[in-house]
Amino acid sequence: MRIRQSLIRLAFYLIMARDYWMRFGRARFVGSYPDYKQAPRLGLPEIAIGGRSNVGKSSLINSLVNRKKLAQISKTPGKTRLLIFFALSGQNEKEELFLVDLPGYGYARVPEAIRRSWGTLVEKYIEASQHLKGFILLIDSRRGIEDEELQLVEYLLSLDKKICPVLTKSDKLKRSQGSEVVKKTMDILGRFGENVHYPILHSSKNGRGNMPIWRWMSERISDES
Ligand code: GTP
Ligand code: MG
Repeated sequence: MRIRQSLIRLAFYLIMARDYWMRFGRARFVGSYPDYKQAPRLGLPEIAIGGRSNVGKSSLINSLVNRKKLAQISKTPGKTRLLIFFALSGQNEKEELFLVDLPGYGYARVPEAIRRSWGTLVEKYIEASQHLKGFILLIDSRRGIEDEELQLVEYLLSLDKKICPVLTKSDKLKRSQGSEVVKKTMDILGRFGENVHYPILHSSKNGRGNMPIWRWMSERISDES
């Protein structure tokens, strides 16, 4: 009985994955911009990916589109200092959305002035973009949610943005630690209501969590406003 259920679940997963693959499977690097005003105006919906330096933003993008080197990954935190746009398209090559890799925050070794200018870049983008449909907020699953993430959540909600919290690097946790951090994150974020999605455990090493993120992205594209 268990095996049968697992097989049904697997078949369902594969069908859904194929669906999303048909829709988002191709990706193109569009460009990197020190200012949102310079970004292309194609009118596509945008999904931003943000979080601390080194939390796994670029790796998540690569994992979502199954490419190893589309977004540049680094062992040195603070590498991404620009708004980096990627266009995702389906097998018919119709471009569906932009993924926007944001500069990471909270990297201690960066001088205060530069840190502030990164913050300004991100805030200006979030406030200026007419097409930003949602924000994927990455949280290191080993640290859990901290003050900086909470402030970001409150800020995004004050601008009526939808948030998808993603707990990264889950391959580094034991199973019990994984469920514990999801519960703790939910305890903190649950009070914010329906604009904040249930926390998703993710690993760019094995693709865990990609499916609910694809689903959330496709819902954002269908959002009216
Ligand atoms: P900045 O652009 O510098 O802010 O970093 P980032 O948030 O884009 O992180 P990046 O994707 O460059 O990853 C940082 C480090 O974490 C790299 O060494 C990655 O290999 C590692 N990493 C990212 N995701 C995962 C994951 O899911 N599992 C494991 N084990 N390591 C990961
Ligand atoms: Mg990066």
